[in-house]
Amino acid sequence: MPSSADPQVAGELRRRLAFSHAPYSGVHVAAAVETSDGAIHYGVNVENAAYPQGLCAEASAISAAVSAGGRGLRRVWVASSLPGFIWPCGGCRQKIWEFAEAGCQVVSVRDDGAAEAHTIEALLPLGFRLDPAQR
Ligand code: THU
Repeated sequence: MPSSADPQVAGELRRRLAFSHAPYSGVHVAAAVETSDGAIHYGVNVENAAYPQGLCAEASAISAAVSAGGRGLRRVWVASSLPGFIWPCGGCRQKIWEFAEAGCQVVSVRDDGAAEAHTIEALLPLGFRLDPAQR
């Protein structure tokens, strides 16, 4: 679904791509999450020489939000150094889903500022949950 990115968030993501630590893949990613209190937390991908230990930008932003006491993701934005739209990997979809409010929008912001959005439920139907009685 075409969308428009909040220009301030889009600018901040672009700026923070320079903070990404991606010497192995060369792919720089920045993410932001808006929590239920309206706060916005940012993260970048942080790779490691032991490759599986690398952290995606979305996971990094969620960690920042949770560490600051934030919960209930309303929106997630992601931008990268690649030319097109990118979407969270499967593991990050589960991480977003677990902290998301219903209908949380995941917005991909392209390098030219264009944006496309999908709900987390569209990106991850039937996510894993420990308590089947919950949503
Ligand atoms: N990456 C993210 O940080 N977020 C995504 O949505 C997709 C991929 C990172 C992981 C790795 O550091 C690099 O991009 C290339 O896969």
